[in-house]
Amino acid sequence: MAEAEEASPASPVRHLGAAAEIHDAHTEVAAGMYASSEHRAPRPGRGQAVGTAGLFERLAARYDAWYDGPAGAALFPSEVACLRPLLRGLPRPWAEIGVGSGRFAAALGVDVGLDPAAAPLALARSRGIRVVRGVGEHLPFRPAVFGAVLIVVTVCFADDPAALLAEARRVVRPDGAVVLGEVFTESPWGRFYRHQAASGHPFYSAAHFLTRDQALALVTRAGLRLQAARSTLYQPPTDSPQPESARDGETPAAGFVCWRTVPAHPA
Ligand SMILES: C[S@@+](CC[C@H](N)C(=O)[O-])C[C@H]1O[C@@H](n2cnc3c(N)ncnc32)[C@H](O)[C@@H]1O
Repeated sequence: MAEAEEASPASPVRHLGAAAEIHDAHTEVAAGMYASSEHRAPRPGRGQAVGTAGLFERLAARYDAWYDGPAGAALFPSEVACLRPLLRGLPRPWAEIGVGSGRFAAALGVDVGLDPAAAPLALARSRGIRVVRGVGEHLPFRPAVFGAVLIVVTVCFADDPAALLAEARRVVRPDGAVVLGEVFTESPWGRFYRHQAASGHPFYSAAHFLTRDQALALVTRAGLRLQAARSTLYQPPTDSPQPESARDGETPAAGFVCWRTVPAHPA
């Protein structure tokens, strides 16, 4: 569990107020962006986890090591380059739901990361992210507090993707955006990952990758509107991918698609 930290004057979240402390989402939090009990996450027992979080709890080091291996070294910069322009100019603070070990959050300058799994959260914290333990389906934040809510390859691991997106919509500011990074199941990389899942890959076999249409329907149902898209990973899937640039727009051949979605209507 993350210990409480006080926001210092140098903290990127200082504008949330000095009382905005980072806690396990189930402890007493009352000020700044944090919600009162009505939006607290369900309380998992010590050592327990919700849904796929147990997997990431157990295999946090293995998941994180991917970024330092050859595939991660090639693909991670492409994926960061895909996301970065979609976040540019959005008001602070920024949050990531399903922050994992904080690789994207650290690279993109995200302020606060939430995840149900404590082990990856500890890694995210070591990367300078202010962490909160909780689930995306019940965010422990007040409405309309974040200028950006980032969600990278997490919708497909959530128990209830519709609830997670509805919560993202609830906590994003009217002038903010929910930015998603997704692998669609019908893409060549989606098929490759499903093939690996069938062979017992621990992470991919726990994922429920969505089709693009399913993702768009969920986003729309959450009260969000697709405003801009970028994409990368047009190279054929292999175990030894190469660095690749990211581009505006998307096609079905893209292995990694990023969307900036904005509130469709005022809350
Ligand atoms: C594939 S990892 C992605 C982590 C990080 N975004 C990244 O790209 O490196 C999926 C993450 O979603 C988290 N997760 C699983 N269920 C969740 C839920 N219901 N709400 C929020 N995060 C969840 C897992 O614990 C895991 O850290």
